[in-house]
Amino acid sequence: MSVTSTSDVYYDPYDVDIDADPYPVYMRLRAEAPLYYNEKYDFFAVSRADDLDRVLTDHETFISGRGAFLDFIRADITMPPGMFIFEDPPSHTRHRKLVSRVFTPRRMAELEPQIRAYCARSLDPFVGSGRFDFVADLGAQVPMRTISLLLGIPDSDQEAVRDQTTGSMRTEPGQPMEIKTVGSPEMYAEYIDWRAEHPSDDLMTDMLRAEFEDETGMVRRLTREEILTYCGLIGSAGNETASRLIGWIGKVLADHPDQRRELVEDPSLIPAAIEEVLRFEPPGHNFARYVSRDVEFYGTTVPEGSVMIHLIGAANRDERRFVDSERFDIHRASVKHFTFGYGIHFCLGAALARLEGRIALEEILKRFPDWEIDVDNARLTSASVVRGWETLPAFLS
Ligand code: HEM
Repeated sequence: MSVTSTSDVYYDPYDVDIDADPYPVYMRLRAEAPLYYNEKYDFFAVSRADDLDRVLTDHETFISGRGAFLDFIRADITMPPGMFIFEDPPSHTRHRKLVSRVFTPRRMAELEPQIRAYCARSLDPFVGSGRFDFVADLGAQVPMRTISLLLGIPDSDQEAVRDQTTGSMRTEPGQPMEIKTVGSPEMYAEYIDWRAEHPSDDLMTDMLRAEFEDETGMVRRLTREEILTYCGLIGSAGNETASRLIGWIGKVLADHPDQRRELVEDPSLIPAAIEEVLRFEPPGHNFARYVSRDVEFYGTTVPEGSVMIHLIGAANRDERRFVDSERFDIHRASVKHFTFGYGIHFCLGAALARLEGRIALEEILKRFPDWEIDVDNARLTSASVVRGWETLPAFLS
């Protein structure tokens, strides 16, 4: 299983030094080893935008049914039915359709006033204080509250639910993630039971009421177990990622004060700035697929049974696709990045994540037009599936 490359470039998703700034390695991968093979952890990786297009659209060769991260695929565990991020057609199509039916743009847009109120409540105490942590004081709050609003989790339980989800994604520095099972989280069970008795205007109630035709042709409602799985998926997919996005907004704009000033002067540029932060610093870098049949890249056969990582952070800066790709530029004409994936697994929460990012930034800039990161006390999260700040304190001026 050799790859024709004379390059000595090294990449692995657990290396903390690479994780601190992976972009020079990504640049070398794109140039010197567009099909990269890592012997230590036995995976292939592609880094050019055209190759990510190829991997993400050929869902018969590159399948998700064994997991969508290296650690999950290696763990070789059975995925619960309904965990559709880890499914392939036809079950993926069926399950995703069901959740998309209740996960509507209208429902997302309706959340705007409440998300704004949460942001205000988190930010107001820091006005005049001179200090603020983008992650602890905002990033860790807003996505959790937003998902809880969607699912109908009471205020008093939201932090515990979040901590259980994010805790499961943490790794020891330099170590793979330990995965024993992918189950449906029992922590949502009591809310489901309560909602069944007390219907409301939330996603949980919609899921309880939804009728659909299952794989046997029977029209039925979702089981409690199925709803648990969907809640678990939404909770884990939408918390940590959106929280990292808010951290990156703080970091990238501190590094680019001129562009931040433009945003203060003209807030209509904020949606484009969010899109560029998403491209420039994606919260997730290392999604992967199981290779279901032999396939060729750059004259080398990637054998059936391999793991293929598609490096989102590398493709987002591919100079073949983006002009001046290593530059952060809120004025880019159109940004088709890979941060929310591509193809049939395209992130179901993309609109919600964009909404959260936009509102958070609007509310931040209204109160704090200027800040500097306290770099000595900022720390990256130790997790191979998300990349971002665990804590990002800032000095406000
Ligand atoms: C900035 C924040 C976010 C990022 C960077 C992100 C990223 C992604 C990516 C890359 C995928 C594709 C995975 C693959 O191809 O294997 C995905 C799928 C998914 N995301 Fe997100 N996500 C974010 C926020 C959210 C939110 C807020 C929710 C829900 C509340 C959510 C729910 C999902 C779901 C359900 C899927 C599975 C879609 C499928 O397999 O068909 N995500 N996300």
